Amino acid sequence: MKGIVLAGGLGTRLSPLTRITNKHLLPVYDQPMIYYPIRTLIEAEITDILIVTGGTSAGDFLRLLRNGKEFGLRRLNYSYQEGEGGIADALALAEEFAEGGPVCVMLGDNIVERSIGAAVRKFKQQSSGAKILLSEVPDPQRFGVPVFERDRIVRIEEKPQTPASRYAVIGVYMYDNSVFEIIKTLKPSGRGELEITDVNNAYIQSSTLTWDILEGWWTDAGTFDSLIKASNLVAEMRNRRND
Ligand code: G1P
Repeated sequence: MKGIVLAGGLGTRLSPLTRITNKHLLPVYDQPMIYYPIRTLIEAEITDILIVTGGTSAGDFLRLLRNGKEFGLRRLNYSYQEGEGGIADALALAEEFAEGGPVCVMLGDNIVERSIGAAVRKFKQQSSGAKILLSEVPDPQRFGVPVFERDRIVRIEEKPQTPASRYAVIGVYMYDNSVFEIIKTLKPSGRGELEITDVNNAYIQSSTLTWDILEGWWTDAGTFDSLIKASNLVAEMRNRRND
């Protein structure tokens, strides 16, 4: 399975930190943010990776990551997103890269404590459809939130004022190749973007979406509070491992 790290967007919630650079190049403790999702994919044995970025700092990704030697890779692939069409719009750029196969997509500002390897292996056994990962959070209204009927997810609501559960849909998504046909049917949301939540809802409609609860902590790093939280969580983890 191939991997895709989405690292575009304007990062407006982090302005002025993002005025002259891309959010995913900002530091999270001792490393640039984008190192974390790349490492997470590699730990799950996904080594053919595409980075989708955009904006005026796109060239900095190449200067920083080069061919991925630091991660033990022989090469990295890059794509450029024109404009800010949202997560699903960025994913559409990966269609040729996917070569008809399944993909594991990770948002460039998502950081997880533990391996996603078990979920990736389970998805490989699922012949088609999609898999999402959930994490219990104190502030689900900031995220995509699953609505359950018993243990079945009946829909996902994007940033609901009144969340129907305590879970966030984290930014790690596994899709079969039909994701690219689904994206072509999407219409921009209220915020003018093609929403990844609409992609996931399309899989729910065809009863082909599975889900797992993520083990260990998870955070995004796209706001001031979550950026410092991410740094603190990583620092604690490193200190624990060095004890
Ligand atoms: C995006 C998704 C949301 C998901 C979140 C995870 O939100 O739209 O469903 O829960 O990533 O980080 P955004 O950060 O673009 O607002």
